[in-house]
Amino acid sequence: MRDWAVADAKNRFSELITKALEEGPQRVTRRGRRVIVRAEDDAIDAPAPRGRVEYEGHVARPAEGLRVLLIIGGGIAAYKSLELIRLLRQSGVAVRAILTEAGAQFVTPLSVGALSEDKVYGDLFDLTDEAEMGHIELSRSADLVVVAPATADLMAKAANGIANDLASTALLATDKRVLMAPAMNVRMWTHPATQRNLTRLAADGVVMVGPDEGAMACGEFGPGRMAAPAAIRDAIIRLLNNEARPLAGKHALVTAGPTIEPIDPVRFLSNRSSGRQGYAIAAALAAAGARVSLVSGPVALADPPGVTVKRVETALEMLGACEAALPADVFVSVAAVADWRPDRCAEEKIKKGQAAKAIGLTENPDILATLSKPGPNRPGLVIGFAAETEHVEAHARAKIAKKGCDWIVANDVSGDVMGGVENEVLLIRRDGAERWPRMAKEAVAARLADAVAAALTARGGGLTGRARCADGAHAAKPSRRRRWRRRARRSWRSICD
Ligand SMILES: Cc1cc2nc3c(=O)[nH]c(=O)nc-3n(C[C@H](O)[C@H](O)[C@H](O)COP(=O)(O)O)c2cc1C
Repeated sequence: MRDWAVADAKNRFSELITKALEEGPQRVTRRGRRVIVRAEDDAIDAPAPRGRVEYEGHVARPAEGLRVLLIIGGGIAAYKSLELIRLLRQSGVAVRAILTEAGAQFVTPLSVGALSEDKVYGDLFDLTDEAEMGHIELSRSADLVVVAPATADLMAKAANGIANDLASTALLATDKRVLMAPAMNVRMWTHPATQRNLTRLAADGVVMVGPDEGAMACGEFGPGRMAAPAAIRDAIIRLLNNEARPLAGKHALVTAGPTIEPIDPVRFLSNRSSGRQGYAIAAALAAAGARVSLVSGPVALADPPGVTVKRVETALEMLGACEAALPADVFVSVAAVADWRPDRCAEEKIKKGQAAKAIGLTENPDILATLSKPGPNRPGLVIGFAAETEHVEAHARAKIAKKGCDWIVANDVSGDVMGGVENEVLLIRRDGAERWPRMAKEAVAARLADAVAAALTARGGGLTGRARCADGAHAAKPSRRRRWRRRARRSWRSICD
């Protein structure tokens, strides 16, 4: 896949032609200010943005940054694993391959290495490989281990804990999920020994894709053909997203940085927020698989990878961009939004001599409180940040009640937190509080993303927050709540009956 800026795309015609000649027909789609080019047969697409403003920034590929260890066994279907590597790379998945001795009879390490753009491993007792990356490390260096084609032999070894070459040792040593795409002659597949192994592997948590039924290279017909590479790729991405991306399918809206409120064309009111914590949270939520929209005030930070960024300046613009980005499953309000703006912004620079004795101030809208209001577009989980310089916990608790949000991440900004690289926070939920030790802002972000994933997945995912909050405390109006309770009681009765 290619992701180009619109202006740039016009100069890349020859690149497009080369891509089409090498990979077949290409689909060119415009998304806001980006042009996405992908092979026509590449069925997996990034989820279409719903009801949001066109964001600048890049569109994340479906499994960007995830890693697969691919074991290629010795079967005719090994040629299909080359196509599988190509499809995985197109989807943004990094592939490291182990080619069994028998596998190397069917495809060459050169082809596998060229497509995976990585070294190909084969020998358990290769001193150079072992010094570079030990076999145990190799087995754990990925998010998922895939065996395709999974020969009868590899299935038998894995089912029985045999580890007598690099592939089978890696299968025994890995701490990651294993997915197998079996491929073999129909009689080998239906043999009671293979079926026994299949049952054992399933009990061990190995996920199977295929085999398909059809005509085989050996001239027989029946189950045993390796599943199509695209089907294996889809299963891998689904599994990767479940394993490594608990927030896959969720939309997270994050604000970061300060807002600036103009006094005249050259002067403004603002604050010291660097945006670092909000950017780290956006990146952590994206790494957990969420589609992330980051609405950012002016900061000197690069866009976090895989996050779509809308840059704004004032609180009013930030509110507008947030509302346009809804619906969202989670909203994390990290921005230090200016509480006030000048009553008016002078059209020309105010001269020194004519400077007003006082600048009249108007209160800005409260973005956190606005997005916390019950309603069909309320995010399922609303998290505010409280920057306090005294009585941190008491003020943060009061903020939950006042704003109507679900959680508050409270931090004491009396030290070097604003603009610094570390943070020490107190996570306050309605039912309790957790004090986290001082750590890097990225570590705070990763821990918060874990907490968000746990909360959203515990509630069954989806836009569960529509018309009700995370813990139900703000669920619609009392009359609607009573109606909902009556309905719930009725449906429970019917289930119990
Ligand atoms: C031409 C040929 C095709 C083969 N195709 C398959 C196959 O599709 N599936 C399978 O399980 N074994 C197949 N085998 C047998 C395996 O290559 C053999 O069991 C080998 O030991 C597997 O080694 P590995 O599991 O380490 O890759 C084939 C053998 C030959 C000679």
